[in-house]
Amino acid sequence: MVYREQNKFKVCSFFAGGGLLDLAFKEEYQIIWANELHEQPALSYMHNIGRHIKVGDILQHPNHLIPYGDVYIGGPPCVDYSSDGKNRGEEEGLTGRLVWKYQSIIAQNKPMAFLLENVSNLARQHKDTLYRLLTSFTDLGYNMGFRLLNAADYGVAQSRERLIIVGIRKDLGFFYEFPEPSQIRATVRDVIGDLPEAATVTKFMYEEPLVANHTTNWESPSPERLYDVILNPRNQRRGMRRLPWDDVSPTLTAHIAKDGREFLHPTADRRLTVREALRIMSVPDSYVIPGTVKLSHQYRLTGNGVPYLLGKALARSLRLQLLNARDIRMVGII
Ligand SMILES: C[S@@+](CC[C@H](N)C(=O)[O-])C[C@H]1O[C@@H](n2cnc3c(N)ncnc32)[C@H](O)[C@@H]1O
Repeated sequence: MVYREQNKFKVCSFFAGGGLLDLAFKEEYQIIWANELHEQPALSYMHNIGRHIKVGDILQHPNHLIPYGDVYIGGPPCVDYSSDGKNRGEEEGLTGRLVWKYQSIIAQNKPMAFLLENVSNLARQHKDTLYRLLTSFTDLGYNMGFRLLNAADYGVAQSRERLIIVGIRKDLGFFYEFPEPSQIRATVRDVIGDLPEAATVTKFMYEEPLVANHTTNWESPSPERLYDVILNPRNQRRGMRRLPWDDVSPTLTAHIAKDGREFLHPTADRRLTVREALRIMSVPDSYVIPGTVKLSHQYRLTGNGVPYLLGKALARSLRLQLLNARDIRMVGII
């Protein structure tokens, strides 16, 4: 389906990373502005999404210079709410406070709708923050909804539970309805089983990969440790874990670059390649991370992202509901 630019809702994207969530919005919306702190993921954003991204600290960015967009999307960094991360919450954690910056930008520009993605722990250990956020958005004039969604329910070969908050400006007259889970269940085999052998790229050797970002250069942990795990599966306790072929992957993390041993290929004796990690995030192969992005950042932007199919389900359902509200208003029912 081809969507004409003038009919598209305009989107501004915050904490955009390498743009995995933006990729899901890109076809059906027009992304006019984005922001990201670090240059490395932004290089991938520019390559795959567009050059409209501004690199810099959003806290230093005056709200009145951010353009109006019909829809704002953003996943403020989650380390301060993550049980896997620092878990300091909004009071102590600097990154935790970024959700309030996002809130203040929404307060200033009042988009028709906004989406806020975060770790599920925000709805568990940091409920106070969640409820204060929801109350503040309601006071700003939004109909609020939130849901814990598992990407595995949307055709992604990964169990990845995330909190999705959606606000719809009250004058549009509806509450957002979250997308129904898809009927398709994907396994690790379904999404990476067809890939050719990864090309070896090290200081001493360069093989041209047959599929972009499908290279391996792993020398750590040592082959001895790796074989210890392979020969004694019980030793997987020692921080090493092979992915299952016929099940979903556990949640990929932003520190997969460092903790690659927790994400060993189901049969090959190495960690996942970036392409395999992208596939486990359901990202299409048309998304290519340029070689100018350091390998550790390639893994990080992948583990930080919103799985494409989950993003797509959210983007599509939101667009249909906004169009519906616009049509109802045009025929004068509201
Ligand atoms: C969870 S990731 C978002 C990933 C993105 N939604 C995607 O799907 O690819 C959060 C991003 O916020 C960025 N970030 C952290 N602090 C920031 C700040 N002060 N200003 C702007 N971006 C920031 C991080 O560099 C990181 O890329």
